[in-house]
Amino acid sequence: MTDDDLTGDTTRRLPTGMRWGTATSAYQVEGAAGTDGRTPSIWDDFCREPGAVLHGDTGDVACDLYHRWDQALSDLRWLGVSLYRFSISWSRVVPRDGEVNRAGLAYYRRVAQSLREAGITPVVTLYHWDLPRWLQARGGWLSPEVVDQFEFFVRSVVAGMDGLVDHWITVNEPYCVAFHGHLSGAHAPGLRDRGAALRVTGQVLAAHTRAVEVLRAAGPAHRVGIAVNLVDVHAATGSAADARAADLIDLVENRLFLSPLLRGVFPEDGPEAFGASLWADAIGPVDLTGVDAPLDFFGVNYYEQHVVTAVAAADELVPGARKLPAEPPTSANGVAVRPEGFAAVLRRLHRDWTSTPLWVCENGIGLHDYVGPDGMCRDPERVAYFDAHLAALAQVVDEGVPVEAYLAWTLQDSFEWNHGYQLRYGLFYTDFPTGRTFPKPSAHRYRRLIASTTAGRPHRQVGP
Ligand code: FCB
Repeated sequence: MTDDDLTGDTTRRLPTGMRWGTATSAYQVEGAAGTDGRTPSIWDDFCREPGAVLHGDTGDVACDLYHRWDQALSDLRWLGVSLYRFSISWSRVVPRDGEVNRAGLAYYRRVAQSLREAGITPVVTLYHWDLPRWLQARGGWLSPEVVDQFEFFVRSVVAGMDGLVDHWITVNEPYCVAFHGHLSGAHAPGLRDRGAALRVTGQVLAAHTRAVEVLRAAGPAHRVGIAVNLVDVHAATGSAADARAADLIDLVENRLFLSPLLRGVFPEDGPEAFGASLWADAIGPVDLTGVDAPLDFFGVNYYEQHVVTAVAAADELVPGARKLPAEPPTSANGVAVRPEGFAAVLRRLHRDWTSTPLWVCENGIGLHDYVGPDGMCRDPERVAYFDAHLAALAQVVDEGVPVEAYLAWTLQDSFEWNHGYQLRYGLFYTDFPTGRTFPKPSAHRYRRLIASTTAGRPHRQVGP
């Protein structure tokens, strides 16, 4: 497939004002796990638990971006993106309680500075899942001090970045932090406790609130958002029971976060869904003051559509509701490929929840990409995925949904959490033994789309 085969209607319809980017996160790409004073995070430990991560893979080396940043920068320049989202490793910056690591901050300053020199706006995620081990030992997200500790970390980052960053994302996917970290056990720290997941929900929202306060106090240049993963939910049949089950999944994965962040209250159906006493214990003490403070952009990560059926069994993650295995087309890990779900999520968010400008902070597909005997890596499914999702994006923007930015997940294949290195999401293929990268057809496609929608416009940083 040549690059020329890849231009069609989508390209012509894409909005010219869109800011294009890619996203990564610290533990997934940096490596250098013990370098320059970084101490372990909960993911370093989780990777070492038998069976937690496919093949026992770890992020010890990952893409080694700590040492290979210049290569990533040149890949970003080649793509022509104007935004690059990356996260900051908490334990690289605060390796022990109360201690700030200047060497760790120097790395992130170099990244931000070089991005700016390349005309690419750095967008920093403050929490992308790598809580320090020292803080987990004191209870992690369940500890009463975690919000104060997050504040210390955020202050240290803001002060340490010397004004090089003004676009911030407080927390990545609070649902995953709370429910995959503390109920499904799929993510670090691997707990399986419904009450814990609910308590962590309150703590993560409080941490977000605190980070927004710190950033607002730091000056008007800062642009602040959050990245919430939202799902498109459908009932399996027209029955009342299935409708109720779908509503339960919508509550847990969408509304439990949207309602506090955008209306300042927890959803009214929470106690019924979780049980009144569990809810009262976990959510009763949560102070939501300030949680719905206005944001400059509301970030959406979109991957999933769920079809839900009612079940009697209480052993489901959400009692009473079961997500059915996705029908094709799916990603290599069984996630439904549904661009119409992407459009539905964006439409609904704007129509029912907020008029804040929207940023798509992540969207992409995991595949088992490989290099063939001819030395090429072909990813036609990813090309089709981006094509269809960008067509959906163009459609909702046409309808008036204010989407300002789209960041593809992800720049290059990286450590994909519990899937280890097998599941690849990159626009660039990463040869993990050497760390070298080269563009897949999807990267060529994205580059061409970006060029076609930014032609004639000066390539410069987005400003406040
Ligand atoms: C999201 C995560 C991101 C990456 C993608 C595939 O849930 O935020 O780090 O793993 O999924």
